[in-house]
Amino acid sequence: MPQIRAARDEDVDDVVALWSLAAENRGRPADRPDLVRLLIERDPDALLLAVDDGEVVGTVIAGWDGWRASLYRLAVAPQHRRRGTARLLVGRAEARLKALGATRIHAMVLEENNDGNGLWQALGYTPQPDWRRWVKAAR
Ligand SMILES: CC(C)(COP(=O)(O)OP(=O)(O)OC[C@H]1O[C@@H](n2cnc3c(N)ncnc32)[C@H](O)[C@@H]1OP(=O)(O)O)[C@@H](O)C(=O)NCCC(=O)NCCS
Repeated sequence: MPQIRAARDEDVDDVVALWSLAAENRGRPADRPDLVRLLIERDPDALLLAVDDGEVVGTVIAGWDGWRASLYRLAVAPQHRRRGTARLLVGRAEARLKALGATRIHAMVLEENNDGNGLWQALGYTPQPDWRRWVKAAR
């Protein structure tokens, strides 16, 4: 199994490259390396990587703002899928969020994303069809 560790500044280009090929990219702004670096600076343990033989093959962001616990940017390289990497990443992310005080953890996924919906269901998450997300650009 890959090793799970927090991302460092020198991983940012690999992370953005993985996201461009493996992440859920529809309906969201393009990833920016400078914003990933800002995340690492603000919360050095939030961005978790799965690293296999030196290669970044999976990611998840375990975000905690003191009130809400959120999982973002869960992605596994196509050739590494269905080997338990996402399960491992989410398990580590959940452990971090619980240790910080989270009592509930949420993730967002596009309705038509069968990979994502299958994964969250398998890991014990349930959908909330009565909620709608509202967004506004901030910069
Ligand atoms: C979703 C994703 C992260 C899953 O990664 P993974 O490492 O292949 O997942 P795992 O091997 O840990 O799967 C754990 C379980 O989730 C479920 N699951 C995973 N992929 C699935 C799929 N495509 N369809 C249905 N169920 C799936 C299965 O129950 C699986 O257990 P099993 O393999 O024993 O049947 C990966 O497919 C991916 O990166 N997809 C594109 C990005 C994306 O959609 N991210 C989620 C956005 S919220």
